[in-house]
Amino acid sequence: MVTRTSIRLGMASLLAMAGVTALSAPADAASTLGAAAAEKGRYFGTAVAANHLGESAYVSTLDTEFNSVTPENEMKWDAVESTRNSFNFAAADQIVSHAQSKGMKVRGHTLVWHSQLPSWVGTLAAADLRTAMNNHINQVMGHYKGKIHSWDVVNEAFQDGSSGARRSSPFQDKLGNGFIEEAFRTARAADPAAKLCYNDYNTDGVNAKSNAVYNLVKDFKARGVPIDCVGFQSHFNSASPVPADYQANLQRFADLGVDVQITELDIEGSGTAQATSYGNAVKACLAVSRCTGITVWGVTDKYSWRASGTPLLFDGNYNKKAAYTAVLTALGGSSSGGGGTAACSVTYSKQEEWGDRFNGRVTVTAGSSAITTWTTTVTVTAPQKISTTWNGTPTWDGSGNVMTMKPNGNGSLAAGASTSFGFTVMKNGSTAAPVLGSCTAS
Ligand code: G3I
Repeated sequence: MVTRTSIRLGMASLLAMAGVTALSAPADAASTLGAAAAEKGRYFGTAVAANHLGESAYVSTLDTEFNSVTPENEMKWDAVESTRNSFNFAAADQIVSHAQSKGMKVRGHTLVWHSQLPSWVGTLAAADLRTAMNNHINQVMGHYKGKIHSWDVVNEAFQDGSSGARRSSPFQDKLGNGFIEEAFRTARAADPAAKLCYNDYNTDGVNAKSNAVYNLVKDFKARGVPIDCVGFQSHFNSASPVPADYQANLQRFADLGVDVQITELDIEGSGTAQATSYGNAVKACLAVSRCTGITVWGVTDKYSWRASGTPLLFDGNYNKKAAYTAVLTALGGSSSGGGGTAACSVTYSKQEEWGDRFNGRVTVTAGSSAITTWTTTVTVTAPQKISTTWNGTPTWDGSGNVMTMKPNGNGSLAAGASTSFGFTVMKNGSTAAPVLGSCTAS
């Protein structure tokens, strides 16, 4: 497996991406959404459509600005299992591979949803539907096991309005209220490392619908039903603005012991008004320590599901809008901020393997400018341990699983030039591949 990252980041963001909380403010403000969010210990993602990955401006904006992706439609039931038990992951795989090659996180969207559901699902009788639902979860999560940070296990299961009732769907109507619990239990077993989210819209403020979701989560936590996170879609416009109690609502869910994520943020409008709303939405997340990341629902206005409402951060020509600047500023970043011109990228490749251990090699390559030094991290999965290293100077975090590697002596590399370091991983029962952090250079 080869992992490549090439993001220019400060030390704080490097640590944040490696799962280590930054303890001090960076000397230079980050100049991209992903880097700025990383310095706050969060991700900043976007929905991505596979059919735009051939467009260079789309891809360069994606790769420069974001460090998490959500397939916009490609992982939905109608996309991956349009015919029973015949799975097609081609389009979703394209997005996941792209994300992995850039060191981005992936959110999985979505497993059990009444919409974009092939008609065959609705024809099944209860017992058969239960089998089909669990099989779908197992197959899709199994295919992406280890690659998905958070899964929207169940999406939009509650009605709008004042009832707080469940929404009619084949799952609700035939399996009853227990279908959500069953889906989450199946999901936990299918990929124990993935965070399992319930995701919905019109739940962003305190209201009957969000109260119903709140009660569901509270009940799950009380009974030990697996749930790790709640997604707040956050599709806003003039009829449905960012609620005044957005932060309070996120916080009350977090207080139940789950992470919260803003999963599909878009805000119709333009100019200062749109920018102010975006800034407020980001600040609400940052004020909630368990708000772990923000995803906007698309890269550019021209491909938005609400294109006429111009609800995103980049216009149809990929120009940064006022909303972009408001978000970057709220995240503590700055367009004119430093970051320097020095850059490097890292790739990992597995070398020799024995019964109890394997060797890994990381190649460090300078970007388009010469660099004088570099640093990167290698994280192994406990109970694995790195027993030996060569061609580098390592330091370790408290767990002993995150190694920060710097050059052995002179770290100078000409533009585009490479060097490499190596290490031995004691498997202790796990063959998981090491995960690289970003490379930083000066
Ligand atoms: O791919 C077909 C194309 O072949 C066909 O010619 C065209 C004609 O209509 O349709 C294309 O499929 C469309 C698909 O998006 C891809 O563009 C579907 O019709 C259209 O319904 C679908 O809309 C998606 C919508 O979910 C469906 O419910 C949007 O892209 C997507 O942004 C939206 O995302 C949802 C989240 O999953 C859940 N939360 C709400 C959010 C916004 O509706």
